[in-house]
Amino acid sequence: MKNKSHIKKVNCRRVFDSRGNPTIEVEIITENDSFGKAISPSGASTGTNEVIEVRDNDNMFGGKDVKKALEIINKKIAPNLIGLSCEDQNGFDNTLISLDKSVLKENIGGNVTTALSIANYLCASNFNAEHTFIYHSESNKFFIPKPEIQIFGGGAHANKNNTFQDFLIYPIVDLSCEDYFDSVYNITNTIKKKLVNNQNFFGYCDEGGLYPNNLDQFQICDIINESIIENKIIPGKEIGISIDVAASNFHSNGIYTLYDKELDSKELTNIFDILINKFNVSLIEDPYDENDISSFIALKNQYGLLTSIIGDDLICTNYSLLENAIQKKAIDGLIVKINQCGTISETLKTIKLAKENNIKTILSARSGDTEENFLSHLAVAWETDMIKVGSFARSERTSKWNELVRIEEKINKI
Ligand code: PGA
Repeated sequence: MKNKSHIKKVNCRRVFDSRGNPTIEVEIITENDSFGKAISPSGASTGTNEVIEVRDNDNMFGGKDVKKALEIINKKIAPNLIGLSCEDQNGFDNTLISLDKSVLKENIGGNVTTALSIANYLCASNFNAEHTFIYHSESNKFFIPKPEIQIFGGGAHANKNNTFQDFLIYPIVDLSCEDYFDSVYNITNTIKKKLVNNQNFFGYCDEGGLYPNNLDQFQICDIINESIIENKIIPGKEIGISIDVAASNFHSNGIYTLYDKELDSKELTNIFDILINKFNVSLIEDPYDENDISSFIALKNQYGLLTSIIGDDLICTNYSLLENAIQKKAIDGLIVKINQCGTISETLKTIKLAKENNIKTILSARSGDTEENFLSHLAVAWETDMIKVGSFARSERTSKWNELVRIEEKINKI
């Protein structure tokens, strides 16, 4: 007999991400017409151990079209998903993994598995007529993870300039979304006015952050500190400053080319020293190239009490890479991106390992993201420490911040 939770249909189509590139949207529909839908996001600054997207590489959309991926879903995958229960996420994800068999999911595509896996996960909460953050909650202890919000962008999100990728702020003290977002608005606008007045405003990056001209990392952090103080907030005590260096993007053969300077890892460390000690930077993501784990270890040894060292490209939400980094004491936290490993089950396994070892978890969107807001639900359900989805502008970013406001309202009533 057919069970109501069993999948009866899988739909897919081409839609577009926030950079205007094609991507995949899928829908999972059960026997009782419960429904889950997800769009695959896409990174610009990707680690080498991320799962591989299947793209057409033909003359449509600069090679980024997804016709092949849609055909794989329709012909190869969907027939194997029909009849599975949407409530059995491990069974669903294992079916995807067994259909692919490669380490980086290059056969059926990490973009394909990501959209399918998330759609099924969302279908299960819809099937149970429950909010995703409640249905998938690990413990029913609900709190809002600290929002890490981009103020300045750069690097691969600004046409591959040799600069740090993100300058962000996050609350150190407990603040409601309402109070924190109030401060973020004020700080962002204070900064923008300064840039415009000083003719340093160049434009916006892929995640909506400000892109300055003629400002280096010290001048940028100086403006952030000044603007926080002008809004009567104490930087480094009430609101923290973080950077995503994304160093692999400006590294080659042991040399980091930052602006027009060539630096070795020790000289790059001297820059972090100033940022930490003079500019209140208390969280640094991917400070060195993804293959230079010994520099991560040295930085953590030297500055571990003052700043958190976070791995993104270093870990790629990969269980074994996290295990290795924990064993080597290389990081205090990791960035979690579902489409780095390609399924919900593998993401959850990595998060569990992080929590068992007191490693901070930061659930993150991609630079090519979408209007969907499921990340806000997942960050609450999975009790991640922080959530990082870009700037405080543009709908693919504010869709997530706004959903956190709604979730906070619901939590306050539970
Ligand atoms: P990416 O950027 O999606 O290009 O990797 C996201 C981030 O890490 O800020």
